[in-house]
Formats: sequence, C-alpha cells, structure tokens
Amino acid sequence: MSKITVDLEYTTDFLPKQALNLWASDKKIANHMLTKKWGKGNDFLGWLSLPEKSLQQLPQILSAVKEFSAGLEAVVVIGIGGSYLGARAAIDSLTGPFGLHRPGPEILYAGHHLVGKYYIDLLEYLKTKKWGIVVVSKSGTTTEPAIAFRILKKALESQVDKATSARRIIAITDEKKGALRKLSTQLGYRTFVIPDDVGGRYSVLSPVGLVPIAIAGFSVEAMLQGAREMQMESENDMKFDTDPVARYATVRNAFYHQGKGTEVLCSFNPELHYIAEWWKQLFGESEGKEGKGIFPAVAEYTTDLHSMGQYMQEGPRNLFETILIPKKVKADLPIPEDTQDLDGLNFLAGKSLSYVNDAACQGTTLAHHTGGVPVIRISFDAIDENSLGSLFYFFEKSCAISGYLLGVNPFDQPGVELYKNNMFKLLKKPGY
Ligand code: PA5
Repeated sequence: MSKITVDLEYTTDFLPKQALNLWASDKKIANHMLTKKWGKGNDFLGWLSLPEKSLQQLPQILSAVKEFSAGLEAVVVIGIGGSYLGARAAIDSLTGPFGLHRPGPEILYAGHHLVGKYYIDLLEYLKTKKWGIVVVSKSGTTTEPAIAFRILKKALESQVDKATSARRIIAITDEKKGALRKLSTQLGYRTFVIPDDVGGRYSVLSPVGLVPIAIAGFSVEAMLQGAREMQMESENDMKFDTDPVARYATVRNAFYHQGKGTEVLCSFNPELHYIAEWWKQLFGESEGKEGKGIFPAVAEYTTDLHSMGQYMQEGPRNLFETILIPKKVKADLPIPEDTQDLDGLNFLAGKSLSYVNDAACQGTTLAHHTGGVPVIRISFDAIDENSLGSLFYFFEKSCAISGYLLGVNPFDQPGVELYKNNMFKLLKKPGY
C-alpha cells in the first residue's frame, strides 16, 4: 500500500493524457539529474539519504535529548526558514491546539522575526520556568536568530549559573565554520551538525528537525521510518501510475505550463497549519527564480471557505488546488441531539464531526472543480509521526523533481541576499 496517494480524478478533464505524455521523458531525466547527480545544485543532495543516515545517528540524538530535557519545563527553538519550520510543522501538528498531546516540555519559538514586544513577553513567560535553548543556524550568522540567541542566552545566564546555562543549550550548526560553532566550542555546548550537503529547507530529517521533535517527546524513529518507506517507494523509475512523486511533480508542472501559476495547498485540518507553512517555504524558495516558479499559496478550510472560498470559486482561473487529506482521525465527537432543534441540525445528531468535515471536503472539491479549478488530492494515513515522515520526504523529492522540470536549481536561494544587503546598508553594518 502506497504511503501517499496522489488522486488526480478532479484534474483529468483539465489535463488530457496527451498533455501528460509530453512530460513522460522529462520526469525521467529530472529523476536522473537527482539520483545520478547531474543536475544543478548537485552538491546539496544529502537529504536524499537522510532517512537511513539519521536512523544510524538516532541513539546519539536520543541520549543527548534525554540528558538535556530532564526537568525542563520549556525549550525555546531559535531559527528561521528551513532552520525552524520543519520542527514546528511536526511539533505543532502532533501537539494539538492546547498542548495536550505533547509528552515532553513546552516548545516555544524565537529567531523568526525582529519584534521586541515578542521577546519582552517571552522573557516574562520564561521568568518562573526551568527552560533551555536549541539554537539552529547553518551559517551561524543569520541576523534574526543571532539577535534572538543573544537576548535569550543573556537571560538564561542571568537566571542560572554558567555551567548550568551551558548544559541547557544545544547548538545545531555547521561542523567547522561560523560564529555559533566557535561559541559552542568556547562555552562547551552540546552540538549537532547540519551536513554540508543539506540545505535548510531540506533539513527536517537531520538533527535540525529531529532534535526539537525528540525534545517535544515525539517518536523521531517512527518519523524516519515513514520517510524511509517513502524513499524506497519512490526510488526508481518514476512510473506515473504508481509513483506519487512522479504524479505530483508532473501534474503541477503541466498546470504551470497551461498558465496556472498559483498552487493553493489546503486542508480541512487546522493542525496542519505549519505543515503548509513548511511546504510554502520549501516550494517558494526552491522554485521561484529566473522569472519562473509556481506561487505557493495556502488556505485552511473550512475557515477560509468563508474568506477565500468566493475567490477560489469564481476568481481568475489561473490556479489549481492541492488538498491534504489524512485518511484516519485520532479522535472524534458526535453531534448532540437538541430537543428544540432551532438550528435544524438534528438530522446530524449522532453523526461525528469528521463525517461532516469529510462532506465539506468532498463538497468543496466538487464545487471548485465545477468552478474551473483542478483539484489534486493527496492522502496519507493519519496525522502521526510515521505519516509526517513520509510526507516530508514526499514533498522534498517532489520539489526537487519539480524544480528540475521547471529548469531551475531547486537548492539555492540567491534572491534572498538583496534584502539583507539593503538592511545592513541602512543599519550601517561595517563593510556594507
Ligand atoms: O532553506 C534555507 O536554506 C533557508 O531558509 C535557511 O534555512 C534560513 O535562511 C536560515 O539560515 P541559517 O540556518 O544559515 O541561519
């Protein structure tokens, strides 16, 4: 049974078989570019083999995490972009909205913006807690996490003695270079390495994602196994009928070439909010270059059916939709009977909320499809560690193949430097 199913039922009338046949040889070439390392950015392909490499590293990660987390009530994960979104995607979707399903300490986030009030409130919140820091930066010099680390390190050092504060910090960074590596060596922090050949947005299955997810108490072993199963499923020939990566990467490119330049990733599960944010960064930073790229937008239904639903139904037909669907729900609730039935909902009494949510999903698919929006439906078993591992690997590989089909290097991000240069000039950083 496939880990991930890419159902194209609601796309076929927009994409006749002949249109897809055009891509048959291209996707094989794209796959060779990846597996035989012929493509652009081929020194950043370490993520392909992370499932088995990280499984080997697991005992070391788990023992460090156990020592670090003992007695901690909260851990602040500092990072931005690919250095924090993967961890947050997994932790938030598994924890649930009220923090009830997280076995480990509370996980808070910092270093992903530059707002002072956030840090004032965060420090106030941490004042009475026993807390630690996981700081993640491959370069070790990114402004937002570096400022956050200065602020939080100082606060921690003023709360506990020097040796305790060093024990309460984990740094995840380059093996040799960078400010964070240097500081970690000087102050004796526990460290993990971001491999040279793994870029930030492809790093969730390395210590970058695994250490925070393990601290939160979730099974990174199950996650890596899910990723490994997906890796094996999509290893060889990119057969369109059986390989979910081949299906997704090809179809989104075929739509792009039909003038549908926006993909809206949506789900009917708000727990998947940060999965969508992670996806947005992965595809946006990987594909948007050289004047090309599918714009990755996200929507959360049914909430956004009451804001974006009108646009999706009747706005410009230059988009397609991809719905993420967990096949199983972990818990469910029946709708109660009401003697007065003023709202007229007694016809649903005794039915579960997921029964109604499924009808909303099916009804939306049919409506948007009728309105001229092709709908790709991606389903996976459940919102659990194993399926999230499969999803991470599935989207990473789809993104790499899709980027090669578009003709760009999916592993660089030259365009993000300009804002930094301008900001540094304005801030009068020496040398700018
Ligand atoms: O995906 C990427 O490469 C980026 O989003 C980086 O992860 C992000 O810019 C953070 O960089 P660093 O880890 O060097 O602080």
